[in-house]
Amino acid sequence: MLLAAPALAGDPARGYAIASNRQLGACTLCHPGPFAGERIPADIAPDLRGAGARLDADQLRQRLIASPPDSIMPSYRRTDGLVNAASNRPILSDAQIEDVVAWLATLTTP
Ligand code: HEC
Repeated sequence: MLLAAPALAGDPARGYAIASNRQLGACTLCHPGPFAGERIPADIAPDLRGAGARLDADQLRQRLIASPPDSIMPSYRRTDGLVNAASNRPILSDAQIEDVVAWLATLTTP
């Protein structure tokens, strides 16, 4: 069972807060994007601007939950293996995943 319950409606503002937080989502370590206050944007992963046009909500969710095995991107919701080493728990909760998906879905312009 990989997909989070669609009943959890994500909140884009909370999603942005998670994505831009260096301890939580830490997306800014790898991705450039519409992040306020990034003095030196990361450039080792695709720009997140336009991700909401390139991928639909299911694809975005799947990407966050279980990153492809050959990717350096962490799997944020998998419970087998790739988890937060400090807590031995998935990095993000189902609700937090939905928030990040909702935020990414708003990023429709490159
Ligand atoms: C350790 C580096 C790293 C981190 C941290 C990371 N990513 Fe990624 N991400 C990547 C790489 C590299 C790719 C593209 C190549 C691949 O699939 O491995 C990618 C691909 C993606 C894609 C698909 C992009 C597209 O346009 O096809 C999305 C969406 C995405 N990441 C979102 C996120 C979000 C949201 C976060 C934070 C919650 C995050 N990533 C954190 C490295 C990272």
